[in-house]
Amino acid sequence: MTDKPRVWVSRPTFPDIVAGLDEHFEVTCEPEEIKFSPAELAVKLMDQDAAIVGLKEHIGAVEIAGAKRLRLVANLSVGYDNLDLAALTAAGIAASNTADVLNESVADYTWALLLGAARRVGAAERWLRAGEWKATKFTQWLGMDVRGRTLGILGMGRIGQAVARRAAGFGMQVIYHNRSALPAAIERECNVRYVDKSQLLRESDFLVLVLPLTPQNRHAIGAPELAQMKQTAVLVNVARGGIVDDAALADVLARGGLAAAALDVFEGEPNVHPALLALDNVLLSPHIASASHDARRAMTALAVDNVLAFFGHGPHAGRPPTILNPTVLAAANPTPS
Ligand code: GLV
Repeated sequence: MTDKPRVWVSRPTFPDIVAGLDEHFEVTCEPEEIKFSPAELAVKLMDQDAAIVGLKEHIGAVEIAGAKRLRLVANLSVGYDNLDLAALTAAGIAASNTADVLNESVADYTWALLLGAARRVGAAERWLRAGEWKATKFTQWLGMDVRGRTLGILGMGRIGQAVARRAAGFGMQVIYHNRSALPAAIERECNVRYVDKSQLLRESDFLVLVLPLTPQNRHAIGAPELAQMKQTAVLVNVARGGIVDDAALADVLARGGLAAAALDVFEGEPNVHPALLALDNVLLSPHIASASHDARRAMTALAVDNVLAFFGHGPHAGRPPTILNPTVLAAANPTPS
């Protein structure tokens, strides 16, 4: 053992990027994707000064109880519902996420899902692979055009804005709902109009969810909300499982109360509600909206940068770029009087 601070990396990432820590830290990288129990996580964190973790690691009071050296948890995602920020802050442990570096990649993928659901790409491919393509029929596999239709966005942070900007190329009107309206200059630049949630539900032909999972947002789209949507509408969830009531969604889709859905995230993933799996008008993907080469490398680099900077190294020494609980940082580095 050296006396360098220790960093635990909970999953295989990009070794060439993580190697950037080697000069200043003793780094332990898990060689496989493992779903650790709270007790196993507590053991992993016990002797570490920092940890780079992902969404499958829930880090709260139980996991940090014995982690007396731990000063930073760097999350490999923009959403951080896996972190109990209050517990970390109370213990004086900083946390960071990977904000911004994945915005454009997630927005691209959102459109891949939206267009895929509108034009029934998943179902058509399954049909072709099943050897069903015996003849071409002019009126088979008809889907929905997006041009001229209304795109609704629930949650209008930077990813929502990147989704909205792309809509101009598809000739769509864009409405959105958020906790608060965007500044007028951003609304103009993104060509979006603020509406209340119920208007958003009633008027959207395509409804994209990009809001964080918080206790208030759990089942933000449940049976009552789905009932307000057009029967011809398409729902796209790239936010988090738990924001949509998956059982209610499957029920509405099966009854023809909604035309289609495209889902990248699920309640209880990696398990997917069996009723969704049974439906042909749902396009499903395994939580990969940020999984482009560029985005995943940039997310890893940002997590590494946060660790380096927190411990006073690298280009942002002392100023880790995406700290979620800056009060901890201020307490750790008080301004000299
Ligand atoms: C992925 O879901 C993320 O929050 O980065």
